[in-house]
Amino acid sequence: VRTHKVAVIPGDGIGIEVTAAAIEVLKAVQDKVKGFELVFTEYNWGSALYKQTGSYTPKDWLDTLKGHDTIFFGAVGDPDVPDHISLWQLILPMRQHFQQYVNVRPSVVFKGIDPPTRCATAEGGELDWIMLRENTEGEYAGQGGRSHVGHEHEIATEVAVFTRIGIERFLRFAFETAQKRPRKLLTVVTKSNAQRYGLVLWDEVAQLVSKDYPDVKWDRILVDAMTVRMVAKPQTLDVIAATNLHADILSDLAAALSGSIGIAPSSNLDPTRKSPSLFEPVHGAAFDIMGKNLANPVAAVWSASEMLRWLGEETAADMLFNAMKASLAQGIKTADLGGTHKTTEVTKAICDLIKGM
Ligand code: IPM
Ligand code: MN
Repeated sequence: VRTHKVAVIPGDGIGIEVTAAAIEVLKAVQDKVKGFELVFTEYNWGSALYKQTGSYTPKDWLDTLKGHDTIFFGAVGDPDVPDHISLWQLILPMRQHFQQYVNVRPSVVFKGIDPPTRCATAEGGELDWIMLRENTEGEYAGQGGRSHVGHEHEIATEVAVFTRIGIERFLRFAFETAQKRPRKLLTVVTKSNAQRYGLVLWDEVAQLVSKDYPDVKWDRILVDAMTVRMVAKPQTLDVIAATNLHADILSDLAAALSGSIGIAPSSNLDPTRKSPSLFEPVHGAAFDIMGKNLANPVAAVWSASEMLRWLGEETAADMLFNAMKASLAQGIKTADLGGTHKTTEVTKAICDLIKGM
């Protein structure tokens, strides 16, 4: 039996509900497929712990995580804690410490999700994208500071950091991803007309790297024009590569165009496999609906499927993904998708579909 050690961090808000859903579905698929065992260890790191102890995590938390094969994460954020504290104590350090330099965010229009819930310009499965987000540097490098605080001439800097190595390793992954897709298209997003250092370097590195992937048809686009193209011509896009902040924004747009932020998964990958990768829904803690059984579990379930794939459990990953797709096609949907089902009902429907496969 192949064993995979999974660190589970439900975190805050609906992160707790959707993580429970994902684990339930993972257990169902494990019972069905056999041959592998997921060993879950849950960590109560999050805003509740912070309010008790002044810290989101114990001191040795990153070492603790290092001992696992993979990390499953829910969400972080709390109305009583400033976001820049919660995020920089939990999710962002993991991405950087474990050098999870690619954040994979697919969007697909599924059967059962129709306009006006999703974008009407993407008829008949025309929206089928993999957005790749550079995940360790750029606008999220954490560099900058404030001086003369409170003074009318106060200065604050927020410095984006781009390295040739960081850009190149990320863009290689992007070209390789495009190469494996039927259409082999890659769109590299920048803002190199206004951002003349880091993003001009992106353009240069893209040009160089592209020479190693002659079968990939690639183009470049500025991020503002990209928002228009995503809405107006979704079928012209396939694999998309963008900086940390640009892809943060564009991936929310992509999720909304495909139906809801409630279905969007993400994989924070260390492609070198030296460190554990991290799987989480794109959405946040959503305290407005927390504890009400209203959260859409699909994003977490899809993320769980991607986790299985990364662990080499392809059969189980496909089964989970297909069950999730089938439940949507059957109209089993939460309120964000225009449905009336509760979190636990969608979860049970997916588990039942797996049992029947
Ligand atoms: C995301 C989220 C995070 C980000 C927050 C929670 C730090 O919005 O994963 O897209 O900005 O990366
Ligand atoms: Mn985001």
